[in-house]
Amino acid sequence: MARSVVVLGSTGSIGTQTLEVAEWHRKDINIVGLAAGKNIDILEKQVRTWRPQIVGIAHADAAAVFKDRVRDLEIEVVSGEDAAGIVASYDDAELAVCAIVGIQGLIPTIQAIRSGKTIALATKEALVTAGEIVMDEAAKHNVKILPVDSEHSAIFQCLKGHDMMSVERLILTASGGPFLKFSKEEMETVTPDAALRHPTWSMGAKVSIDSATLMNKALELIEARWLFGIDPDRISAVIHEQSIVHSMVEFVDGSILAQLGAQDMRLPIQYALTYPSRGKGYGDKINLTELGALTFDEPDPARFPALRLGYQALRVGGTLTCVLNSANEEAVRLFMSQRIGFCDIARLVEEAMENHDVLEASTLDQVLAADCRAREYVRMRAERIGR
Ligand SMILES: NC(=O)c1ccc[n+]([C@@H]2O[C@H](COP(=O)([O-])OP(=O)(O)OC[C@H]3O[C@@H](n4cnc5c(N)ncnc54)[C@H](OP(=O)(O)O)[C@@H]3O)[C@@H](O)[C@H]2O)c1
Repeated sequence: MARSVVVLGSTGSIGTQTLEVAEWHRKDINIVGLAAGKNIDILEKQVRTWRPQIVGIAHADAAAVFKDRVRDLEIEVVSGEDAAGIVASYDDAELAVCAIVGIQGLIPTIQAIRSGKTIALATKEALVTAGEIVMDEAAKHNVKILPVDSEHSAIFQCLKGHDMMSVERLILTASGGPFLKFSKEEMETVTPDAALRHPTWSMGAKVSIDSATLMNKALELIEARWLFGIDPDRISAVIHEQSIVHSMVEFVDGSILAQLGAQDMRLPIQYALTYPSRGKGYGDKINLTELGALTFDEPDPARFPALRLGYQALRVGGTLTCVLNSANEEAVRLFMSQRIGFCDIARLVEEAMENHDVLEASTLDQVLAADCRAREYVRMRAERIGR
């Protein structure tokens, strides 16, 4: 029987690649629901290809135009803030790919968990902001969370057959992004366009900027803490420019297991969609003899303060991880609209963290209040920077 799947964030980088993987496995995967923000051109093509039963569109005006365009099809179209959540809870699906960017993916992810679906999780912000809540919900509803992020998929694969008692530490790899060799002074003046040009991966805008600041790795340290239930001080990150080793696990006997593969997100997406089987790979493969040297270096905390902030939030926990995330989301938005500079992103996040009284993050109200305050703080400070 084909596995029935809903894709939340279907029009984005992960969403469109998920549908490519589903196309490769068309006999085994049935797309029954799609949810997006407002890109109805891509969504219409997807709907005509896949004929899902339900489609959710967050943006109400876009949804009205969309309904008119697809009136020849028999599909349910829901719109507004709750649209992704409605698709997430759709009864006929057994697996939800959660690929909405940012904290707006949190509630739909929780709704998918509450409706008992297996989760293929790309939205790392859900675990960074509310890891305890998400993992508790998953345990309560006996739901598996399968990582889509390439680093976490690598760790998940390396851990297979091992128990966590035998793990010394998790080692996440980071490409270092486009400014790895830039001086601090050079980084002050980089533009959004330059920050969007990632040397090894093609991704959505927000995660590309996060990769350039190394905030992406900061978020991933926290994501790993919750996904694998490991102590914060046993998670670390190294720079691996080639992006071939997707991450590693060091065991107590000193052995290190690594997962290698092409720089192609369709690989970890496929692993989550076909888990526990391995589907045939249709994407790029690596040729070991053509790879050349694989290097591993210590990240420079002076040029990449975001990583230091990530370790700090990871150690302190509570609502501080949400503040790290939400201050960053807001600062990235301001950088993209050229209201602040590239290095202001980490500066504003650090200030927001310093100005936050940390609470437990055991209820959604606590998390959403911390999210709101962090964003307000960054907006207020950015106005003073005023470009
Ligand atoms: N891209 C990668 O290679 C990669 C790798 C690892 C992890 N991730 C993680 O995966 C997540 C998605 O990243 P991405 O690069 O795919 O982002 P993206 O290309 O910007 O796509 C974001 C998706 O979210 C949708 N969306 C935004 N607001 C929504 C809402 N309120 N309701 C429903 N859908 C909404 C967008 O719809 P519209 O476009 O229609 O507005 C779009 O489909 C992020 O958490 C990222 O960190 C990405």
